[in-house]
Amino acid sequence: MRIGILTSGGDAPGLNAVIRGAVLKGTRVHGHEFVGFRGGYKGLCDSDAMPLARNEVKGIGNTGGTILGTSRTNPFEHGGAPRVREVLDEHRLDALIAVGGEGSLAAAKELSDLGLPVVGVPKTVDNDLNGTDFTFGFDTAVGIATEAMDRLRTTGDSHSRCMVAEVMGRHVGWIALHSGMAAGAHAILIPERKTSMDELLHWVRSAHDRGRAPLVVVAEGFVLDTMDDAHSERGLDAFGRPRLGGIGEKLAPLIEEATGIETRATTLGHIQRGGTPSAFDRVLATRFGMSVVDLVNAHQWGHMVALRGTEIHTVNFSEALGALKTVPAERYEAAAMLFG
Ligand code: F6P
Repeated sequence: MRIGILTSGGDAPGLNAVIRGAVLKGTRVHGHEFVGFRGGYKGLCDSDAMPLARNEVKGIGNTGGTILGTSRTNPFEHGGAPRVREVLDEHRLDALIAVGGEGSLAAAKELSDLGLPVVGVPKTVDNDLNGTDFTFGFDTAVGIATEAMDRLRTTGDSHSRCMVAEVMGRHVGWIALHSGMAAGAHAILIPERKTSMDELLHWVRSAHDRGRAPLVVVAEGFVLDTMDDAHSERGLDAFGRPRLGGIGEKLAPLIEEATGIETRATTLGHIQRGGTPSAFDRVLATRFGMSVVDLVNAHQWGHMVALRGTEIHTVNFSEALGALKTVPAERYEAAAMLFG
């Protein structure tokens, strides 16, 4: 068979391991041929293709980013299913593997609903996709954030300051929850749980009163109980969604003013998505890449690979899309027992 691959949406450490896993298994075990599309759905609709033989994927399993490039492009704004069909025919492709998050896989689902041979691999550092216990990229992001917080704690301790660390997480607080727990944060603020300034100040003061330099972890999508929407001052992205970031900088002076504790904010931003994937993410991504070839072999269009426990499963797109995998209240409350 001839198979196309694209990576779409925000990048995540492990994308190259997916590509390598799929190409190696597909070529060595099944004699398939692969073509990569550059820059996500944009490259697909523009027919911007590159050969993906064994040689092109050598040594990429431990590298960050994606050798194919990515973009936040909606194929339905670039010719839709008829154009995709045309490009698949032009390259004599029997299947398309789309590696992406919620938005990219929703487009993959729509294409497969319209009769195109599309399968998916779930990807997002936010870990907010339903249907899979983990997405690759999340473990790496949590590791980077945790290391940054360990560093913030030593400088915070030296100056007896309150340190605010802002992490990614547009709709969900998984990165904040895991990195905050790992770093022993005194408060973790997530989009799923509106929190009052009074509650936050109580945690900060209580840590400070015990002689600690308070560490506050906040997800970019966090909303104070006095706010209507997540903090955004950088316009809209390609899908018309507000670009987030800056809530940490907003909270720091409020904390300092109310408590008298000198406070500094650090926004980790895209550092969490860059660089080499963790060993866990390399293994998960490689397994996803190898397993998605089985979906293609079985013509399981409209499905994606997923991790359930320790095993790779096949999940229908409709099971994974529609609602996000948010942090359950009980997970947050368990972590909150250690705040302050
Ligand atoms: O979806 C992953 C994510 O990293 C979000 O956490 C964040 O809000 C967004 O992407 C940032 O997108 P961009 O790379 O377009 O700035």
